Amino acid sequence: MNGEIAQLDERYLWHPFTQQREWQGSEAPVIERAEGTDLIDREGRRYIDGVSSLWCNVHGHRHPLIDAAVREQLDRVAHTTMLGLTHEPAARLAQRLVELAPPGLARVFYSDSGSTATEIALKMAFQYWQQRPSVEDRQRRSFVALHDAYHGDTLGAVSVGGIELFHSAYRPLLFEAHRVAPGDPAELEKVLTRHGDEIAGVIVEPLVQGAAGIRVQPPGYLRSVRELCDRHGTFLIADEVATGFGRTGTMFACEQERVAPDFLCLGKGLTGGYLPLAATLATERIYEGFLGAHEECRTFFHGHTFTGNPLACAAGLASLDAFQREDTMLRLQPKIRLLGELLADLAAMPEVAEVRGRGFMVGIDLGERDPAARMGHRVTVEARERGAIVRPLGDTVVLMPPLAISKADLRRLVEIVGASIRAAVAHGDRPSLETGGPAGAAQLARAA
Ligand SMILES: Cc1ncc(COP(=O)(O)O)c(C=O)c1O
Repeated sequence: MNGEIAQLDERYLWHPFTQQREWQGSEAPVIERAEGTDLIDREGRRYIDGVSSLWCNVHGHRHPLIDAAVREQLDRVAHTTMLGLTHEPAARLAQRLVELAPPGLARVFYSDSGSTATEIALKMAFQYWQQRPSVEDRQRRSFVALHDAYHGDTLGAVSVGGIELFHSAYRPLLFEAHRVAPGDPAELEKVLTRHGDEIAGVIVEPLVQGAAGIRVQPPGYLRSVRELCDRHGTFLIADEVATGFGRTGTMFACEQERVAPDFLCLGKGLTGGYLPLAATLATERIYEGFLGAHEECRTFFHGHTFTGNPLACAAGLASLDAFQREDTMLRLQPKIRLLGELLADLAAMPEVAEVRGRGFMVGIDLGERDPAARMGHRVTVEARERGAIVRPLGDTVVLMPPLAISKADLRRLVEIVGASIRAAVAHGDRPSLETGGPAGAAQLARAA
């Protein structure tokens, strides 16, 4: 980085998942504006946004429909609390989400990040069981989570997270959760058979575990998890913060296995990737478990200042309009097929161990490499020089373009990534800069 902004950044900022000592003097672009699926830096260099600005952009940047909706809302009110008040964008968006979500999800609780969406689901599930009349139900106090899970960075979300080394620093602050191997229903069955009466909920990232390195679950797994939760009378919490809003090829990943969870956690793409908004959807049964006289204290005592922010809700509504008007999901299907064809070429490269993913959620695994070489990170630096922003998860390069990307740009993105992998491997080791976002966890784990 250079120039005044770089100096201010280095003097005052503290970046997420970043070793600041290595960040100093780095060449990170200073992004000034964007057009469609391109980010543009202060020098006018363009980069394809190959990770959708951390997996959230859907329709591209500066989308006319969403821009106009946010501007219109700005002319009314930018923020007003949902404690004791309500507003039109929050109510209308809640209706649209309930209509769109898998059946049975009837209530929308807003917050402002994926972490808070999952944190809220955990707290709601826990409190629901504590408020049940039967003593047996009140024994349901713990959760089952998948190995290598990622549900966010707040302490509840970290407690059910499974990226070990990264989370272990906080171990004394966390609650215990049962862990099972993703993709293996037999293991979940064993845990539920032994501890089922104590389980408040099973939390999963449906179909694909993103931050674990784009780990894909075998077909039928999610359905089995649903059936096991039903058999043992516990809740299924589907964390679709990453997979939601078209990312895996359907609006929600749960649809692909005809699964309706008891809780659905949404974030990232909810506003088309424009503004911080998250939602935890719950069934009417759960909602009713919180109803009672004031003095019964069944209230859900949780809420953030910017819960249901009107600008963000307006962006969310406009994003759903864009899905409809532009037939986003229909137009995505041939692009998913094209991406599959393009990736077959990458998978055949000697430098690539495996390509995995679903829809527009792809991991290109560079195989067992010297952690000190930080090959995944080096690929992202090479890609930047060639005009694309991608991110590593350890030695897995993640591709998650906006759903709106053109076929031509999709081709160019995959070409750039292929060339960057070749260059990174050919150039050998050189010092790296950042630890790599949520993926930094996996990266650190490998480095240990
Ligand atoms: C599955 C999943 N859940 C939760 C989160 C946390 O979301 P946020 O970063 O908005 O807190 C993420 C972020 O990557 C995620 O992938």
